[in-house]
Amino acid sequence: MKPIKSLLILLFISSFTTLFAQDRAFSDLLQNIDAREKVSLNGLWDIIVDPLENGYYNHRLQPMDNGYFKNAKMQSPSDLIEYNFDTSDQIIVPGDWNTQMEKLYYYEGTVWYKKDFNYSAKTNELVYLYFEAVNYEAIVYLNGERIGTHTGGYTPFQFEVTDKLKEGDNFVVVKVDNKRKRENVPTVNQDWWNYGGITRSVHLISTPKTHIADYSIQLAKGSTTDIQGWVTVENGSDGDNVEISIPELRKNVKSIVKNGKANFSIKAKPTLWEPKNPKLYEVTIKTASDEITDTIGFRTVSTQGSKILLNGKEIFLKGISIHEEAPFKTGRVTSKEECRILLQWAKELGCNYIRLAHYPHSETMVREAEKMGFMIWSEIPVYWTILFDNKDTYANAKNQLTEMISRDKNRAAILMWSVANETPEGEARLDFLTNLTNEARKLDNTRLITAALDTQSEGEGGKMIEDPLGKAVDVIGINHYCGWYVDEPQKCSSVKWASAYDKPMIMSEVGGGALYGLHGSKNERWTEEYQAEVYRTNIEMMRNIEFLSGLSPWILMDFRSSRRPLKRIQEDFNRKGLISEQGMKKQAFYILRDYYLKENN
Ligand code: GCU
Repeated sequence: MKPIKSLLILLFISSFTTLFAQDRAFSDLLQNIDAREKVSLNGLWDIIVDPLENGYYNHRLQPMDNGYFKNAKMQSPSDLIEYNFDTSDQIIVPGDWNTQMEKLYYYEGTVWYKKDFNYSAKTNELVYLYFEAVNYEAIVYLNGERIGTHTGGYTPFQFEVTDKLKEGDNFVVVKVDNKRKRENVPTVNQDWWNYGGITRSVHLISTPKTHIADYSIQLAKGSTTDIQGWVTVENGSDGDNVEISIPELRKNVKSIVKNGKANFSIKAKPTLWEPKNPKLYEVTIKTASDEITDTIGFRTVSTQGSKILLNGKEIFLKGISIHEEAPFKTGRVTSKEECRILLQWAKELGCNYIRLAHYPHSETMVREAEKMGFMIWSEIPVYWTILFDNKDTYANAKNQLTEMISRDKNRAAILMWSVANETPEGEARLDFLTNLTNEARKLDNTRLITAALDTQSEGEGGKMIEDPLGKAVDVIGINHYCGWYVDEPQKCSSVKWASAYDKPMIMSEVGGGALYGLHGSKNERWTEEYQAEVYRTNIEMMRNIEFLSGLSPWILMDFRSSRRPLKRIQEDFNRKGLISEQGMKKQAFYILRDYYLKENN
């Protein structure tokens, strides 16, 4: 064959593959794993605590070939192997190590996890090893072979491992490291405990070789009758059929795969998802070799001046902020029951909206909240002063954003993606965050983009919102602690606000601390009376903010933070919860509840 011809063919193929790649803006995370056939790898895992990363580096700090990931066993009595998972400690997955072992309470560093499991292959099957979350850095090995890494503690990742599995006994080893580093996201200081470990579930997911990998199904921007979407088919070929059906709406459409993707649109009149009626529809996607069903709600969200419109109607977001701290047992939330306890408390508070702070919470939390009718603010941990001029830090933040949106893009309850919390003004920061907001819009142009700011200045008319980041976002979140970090509580009622932007403002954080059961006058810090006064006067302040379209006071429940060492009061807990970590409601809980139930219903 003439060299020029082969070159042309080569060029064509490469453009095809890059096109293919370009076509997949999202990471290839399997969508809706709940609906997939899977084997859980949850339960007891063997662990080795390795502060010096002795199982990874040799004494010359060079990565070793025969590290702990080999799970080596003595073959003869003279063998020298200075670790043994089978005789080591065990820990429960999912979960953090800090609250499971007293000796690991403050531990930050490497812990090696090992799990044995049995596997028998099926024909025409692909197998994915799927982690819902590992904090912070994970290096994953299967049967002693490195299969991949992941950075970021709050989003899922997967590896296709079909060819690496053995018939019968297999073992997976994960090197988990939650060491804080300046270039990380979040960086070295955060006001929540740096819980380390395999904090969410681990699955072996089985799919047909050719399977539905990812899909997006929702109303087109600004339309309540045009459902649009796409489906990507792994190992699919052009011309393959894809069928999308919504039985309850008597809708069934067919589409054709082109470049690995099938686009479609459906004219329909769905009952729109809203807090009072969180309507979800069963949607089934079928191909010749695969089928998957999801429950999806349809709604539109937009802004009009300083108003937030849900399904074209103005809505006020009566919210509360929530950390992924487990009620009663504390540590990372690990079960649906714990999610429901937190959400039930938010329901009792009269909320129709929750801010999941400061990182993506579990898919279970998002789906349970959606079923209960909560509108959601979902966030990536671009928190305080990260390295805005560091390109790896940006790539990391962008990756966490992409994984967050990829996992939850079909959740109607999520109205806003937040790209940052309390970041200091500056050029590098503005570029960094403006780029992130643009990235978010590219990935999903149907939701609102926001950020929580604390850059309000003292102006003539009171507090002035003029942070240049206000230009890039659709909704401006403001964190302001009147009566706690600034001013006495009594001063707050008369505080006025002004904004340089004709955009909705959400008071994304407001509040103060109290130790449950500590009583005294309303001027005595840490008493329930003081916290209640802070809420009373801040609610008065917020009543006077015309462009306020919602709030998410800080915070539903006390949560652990290594910034809170005050003995007999904080005991390593941030005490700004309206409920203690042991479920005891403080006076301020009822102040906010009355405001939500009596005023804004
Ligand atoms: C900040 C921050 C929170 C923190 C809170 C507090 O605004 O966003 O993460 O916990 O203030 O100081 O309690």
